[in-house]
Amino acid sequence: MTRKAGDDVRTPHHVAIIMDGNGRWAAGRGLPRIKGHKAGTAVIEEIIDTAVKMGIKHLSLYAFSTENWRRPEPEVSVIMSLLRFYLRLHISRFCNKGVRFHFLCDLEAMPESIQRDVIEVETATAKESEMVFHLAVNYGSRAELVKAVQSCIKDGLKPEAIDESTISSRLWTAGVPDVDLLIRTSGELRISNFLLWQCAYAEFYFADCHWPDFNQNRFRDALEAFASRDRRFGGI
Ligand code: FPP
Repeated sequence: MTRKAGDDVRTPHHVAIIMDGNGRWAAGRGLPRIKGHKAGTAVIEEIIDTAVKMGIKHLSLYAFSTENWRRPEPEVSVIMSLLRFYLRLHISRFCNKGVRFHFLCDLEAMPESIQRDVIEVETATAKESEMVFHLAVNYGSRAELVKAVQSCIKDGLKPEAIDESTISSRLWTAGVPDVDLLIRTSGELRISNFLLWQCAYAEFYFADCHWPDFNQNRFRDALEAFASRDRRFGGI
């Protein structure tokens, strides 16, 4: 589902966030990088709560990319442990907030222990309807697009039978509206292989602070900036 010029554009349906700067946040305090990831994980709840309050229907957070496996093993291991701890702790909290959890990635490529936790959280929250929280882990947009094309070929689709909706419906975001607002923290001005297809008409907002310092006020600043944008979707 894509928005058009003239729609109510003040509140984004779908906000995506690249949570960047955990390492630098920690280094600036003389702490090991993993402390930055812990502090970054703690911020997520405040952002989810604010998103629900603001009537946002889809929130996608980029927690770990396909390229992040290249990091030192101890750091990867801490992020995976944080993820498991986070999922277990939040099952009931998601339900209390009306949040449905969706894991954005090829789940089969993840360690079995994480697969079990994810399935448990997705199943427990399946009926919640205030907002969907998409967590991208081991996510890469190009890999997602390659898989979509492969699935068209496997299904024997003829070239003329393939249009934009054929591809959209074969992405891990099938059925999810396109991203309206993409936020990246830490002052970096890159999209880093996150939701490339889905961000075709997204507004971009770059926050100067590192992710652990992002909070509801900074999130509201981003939403205010979004509300003032003039979106034309290629029209005039
Ligand atoms: C980017 O900062 C952050 C990551 C690659 C990991 C983000 C992970 C979390 C917030 C915690 C895990 C998430 C959950 C839900 C448990 P960076 O390390 O690239 O920072 P730097 O650019 O300053 O080095």
